[in-house]
Amino acid sequence: MSKDLILESTTLWDFPTQNYGNMPHGNNKYNGVTPAFVIWNLLQRYTKEGDLVVDPMCGSGTTIDVATELNRKVIGYDLNITRPEIIKNDSRKIPLADNSVDFVFIDSPYSDNIKYSEDSRCIGKISCERTEFYDELEKTASEIARILKPNKAMGWVIADQWVKKKFTPVGFLMWQRLEKYFTPIELICLTRRNQTSNTPIWHSRARQFNFYLRGFKYLFIMKK
Ligand SMILES: C[S@@+](CC[C@H](N)C(=O)[O-])C[C@H]1O[C@@H](n2cnc3c(N)ncnc32)[C@H](O)[C@@H]1O
Repeated sequence: MSKDLILESTTLWDFPTQNYGNMPHGNNKYNGVTPAFVIWNLLQRYTKEGDLVVDPMCGSGTTIDVATELNRKVIGYDLNITRPEIIKNDSRKIPLADNSVDFVFIDSPYSDNIKYSEDSRCIGKISCERTEFYDELEKTASEIARILKPNKAMGWVIADQWVKKKFTPVGFLMWQRLEKYFTPIELICLTRRNQTSNTPIWHSRARQFNFYLRGFKYLFIMKK
């Protein structure tokens, strides 16, 4: 491990910055970008050099950059192609053989709050208040289970929603779906330091109108 990077040892991961080091990892301007440190920590724990890492929804390619830097082989798919290395593919059908992958990382849409692309197959066009949202993500989960080698792990990032005075426990609902395919290893809370609502005006609105600002996302770590 490089001496300036932190291998987290608790179930609360609180990284002050989106990125680490001097090299870019993914693109901070990409809506919904994953903190590079999350992927770095997972690859340190669950993979070794030469392993094959797959991200079925790789967005701006954070997983590609972290995995490459750590000498892991990597394949990144998405419907929204932001870089030439990314292969256009729907996560519900991954073009890889059964039992062929050492680790999967995925940071899926959490609902229909972000417009990722015009592609009608984007799961981020479905509200997390609809069962269909979980049905479609479950198809991705079953593909991940199929391509992973036995006993190998995956990390899935997702968050709950509170919109128009309605709370939806997206994390719990998704966890139930994932348990059909995987054995839980750990549930990590990722603090959301860089969220746009982390400003004094939002804090005072939250108190005044009696709601809470989302303080964390979930990282589910499970194995096949
Ligand atoms: C939260 S973002 C991923 C961010 C990425 N980890 C990064 O660091 O840039 C979710 C991604 O899921 C992709 N996506 C949504 N539905 C998809 C589908 N059916 N197949 C493949 N990708 C999909 C979106 O295009 C978006 O890039």
